[in-house]
Amino acid sequence: MQRLAHAGASVRAVVRNPSGDVAGAAVIQADLLEVATLAPALAGIKSLIHCAAITADHKEPFPGAYRRVNAEGTRNLVWAARRAGVEKIVLLNGLGTRRGSDRSYMRTRWEMSEAVRNSGLPWVALQPSILFGDRAPYPAALARLARQFPVMPVLGGSRRLQPLWVEDLVSCLTMAAGSSQWDGRSIDLGGPDQLTYREMTKLVMDTIGVHRPMVPLPPSLARVPARVMALLPNPPLVPATLELFDFDNVTQPDVVEETFGFQPRRITDHFLANGLDG
Ligand SMILES: NC(=O)c1ccc[n+]([C@@H]2O[C@H](COP(=O)([O-])OP(=O)(O)OC[C@H]3O[C@@H](n4cnc5c(N)ncnc54)[C@H](OP(=O)(O)O)[C@@H]3O)[C@@H](O)[C@H]2O)c1
Repeated sequence: MQRLAHAGASVRAVVRNPSGDVAGAAVIQADLLEVATLAPALAGIKSLIHCAAITADHKEPFPGAYRRVNAEGTRNLVWAARRAGVEKIVLLNGLGTRRGSDRSYMRTRWEMSEAVRNSGLPWVALQPSILFGDRAPYPAALARLARQFPVMPVLGGSRRLQPLWVEDLVSCLTMAAGSSQWDGRSIDLGGPDQLTYREMTKLVMDTIGVHRPMVPLPPSLARVPARVMALLPNPPLVPATLELFDFDNVTQPDVVEETFGFQPRRITDHFLANGLDG
C-alpha cells in the first residue's frame, strides 16, 4: 500500500476486520461473501488488486470455505467490480494454478482465475511460488516446526520451489496494476533460486540457528496424518496443503527480469542480512 501511495496512487485497503490504520491507504470494511459490502468498497476504484483467499496452509474456517471464498467470493467481487466501473483486475494466485479435480482445493483456485479471466474487464494474474520476507507464512511455519519438534519432517523432499521476496512481488503487482503491458496474461513468478523443499528446510533451520534431523515425509504417507490434524484448531497440515506438493513449484529462473525488467532478491542473501523477516 505504502509503495503504491508513494508512487502517487490513491489507495484503498479493503479488509474484513478493520483493526487499525494501514499505512498509505484509506481502510474500508468488506467481505467477499457479503455482496452488499462490495459496492461501497469498490466505488471510484480504477484498478483492483485481488489478494484475498483462504489458502491451503489454513484449515477451512467453515466447511466449504475454500470454494465459498475463493471461487464464489471472487465471482461476487468480479460482479461488483463490473457494476462499480472498475477498469482493471490484478489477481494474485499461486504458481501452477490448474483445473484440478472436482472438489479439490486447486479447483477453487482455478475458478478464481476463471472468474477474473471471464470478467470482460482487462485483467492480469500474477502467480508466485512461495514467498519470503515480511513474516511470509511458509518460512515462518518451517521455523515454528523446527523450534517445536525434535525432528523435522520434510514434506516434498526433492520437489522444487522458487522463493520470491514479498517486496519483489509488490513491485510486479504495482507495475501490472499501472500498465496494460501484461494484460490478458497469467504469469508464474519466482525468484532467482530454485531449491528443493529439503534445501529450503535446511536454509530456514540454518537461518534461525536450530538444527534438527530431517525426516522425509512423502505426501502419500502424510494423507492420513493430515486428515487427523485437520481436527485440531490450528493444524500445521491439512489435506489441501498436500495438493501443493504434487508438482514442482517453479518457473523460469529469470522470469522476473525477463518480464518486469528487474533482478529479484536471492533468498540466501536476504536471510543472511535480515533473517526470516524484512
Ligand atoms: N504466502 C505465499 O507464500 C504465497 C505464495 C503464492 C501465492 N500466494 C497467494 O497470495 C494470496 C494471499 O496469500 P497470503 O499468504 O497473504 O494469505 P493470507 O495472509 O491468509 O491472506 C489472505 C487474505 O484474504 C482475506 N480473506 C479471507 N476471506 C475473506 C473474505 N471472505 N472476504 C475478504 N477477505 C477475505 C484474509 O482476511 P483476514 O485477514 O480477515 O482473514 C486475508 O487478509 C493468496 O491468494 C495466496 O494463494 C501466497
